[in-house]
Amino acid sequence: MASDAPVAARRITPAELLARKGGVPIVCLTAYTYPIARLLDPHVDLILVGDSVAMVLHGHANTLGATMDMMVAHGQAVMRGSARACVVVDMPAGSYEDTVANAVASAQRIFDETGCHAVKLEGGTAVAAQIAAIVAAGIPVMGHIGLLPQWVEKEGGYKIKGRSDENIAALLADARAVEAAGAFSVVIEGTMEPVAAEISRMLAIPTIGIGASSRCDGQVLVIDDAVGLTVDRVPKFVKEYAHLRDIVAEAAAAYAADVRNRAFPAPEHLFIPKDKA
Ligand code: KIV
Repeated sequence: MASDAPVAARRITPAELLARKGGVPIVCLTAYTYPIARLLDPHVDLILVGDSVAMVLHGHANTLGATMDMMVAHGQAVMRGSARACVVVDMPAGSYEDTVANAVASAQRIFDETGCHAVKLEGGTAVAAQIAAIVAAGIPVMGHIGLLPQWVEKEGGYKIKGRSDENIAALLADARAVEAAGAFSVVIEGTMEPVAAEISRMLAIPTIGIGASSRCDGQVLVIDDAVGLTVDRVPKFVKEYAHLRDIVAEAAAAYAADVRNRAFPAPEHLFIPKDKA
């Protein structure tokens, strides 16, 4: 059966991204659906199927609403819509923290059922054993340190990291632990700029910043933030490259007016017998 699915010569691999350390910055956006993956794929190196999907598409208050089934379904959709970018799928909260065996089983399910190229999990020293075991099972891992959205309830809110000497020491230890465990790259989120820059200098693996530093080895944004579709508060670290909120609202208003005025559908949208045209 013919398919419009994108075809590329080959995918960017985690190993290629690792080799980009200190070079041209790595471009990453999140995607959760087939059409958005198709639109982003020619432009980015890395697509992250983030657990932010729980908030962005499903309306949950935080990323704790993400489930394994959700991540697998969105991971599959993004894989169908991309052919060139490396695709990383987030491990949802509750799927890896308790035991190493559970972490490996969850990573294996995401890897096998989506065909993605790597998984991402949040935490440093606390999850180093899980990262090492998943890597040993043959699944590339991206780490995630700094502000950890999955810890929002434990920490009583979203707290920028790297403000105190004690916290900076903990962050550096997290960064070293993630690298030593075998991650091929690490997201640094919501961290004071000089600390994110220092971690980027210190590590041999690429750092991907979000609310971190332009001196990271790459940057990531949530796609809905980047195109101005976010309907609630837009975080400080976001730059909106379009204002789709306004475009969608204007289109909905124009459609509503056309329907109410019987201006839509017009004859060109209808199947009218030739003798009645
Ligand atoms: O879930 C997500 O979108 C993320 C990015 C913000 C890094 O983890």
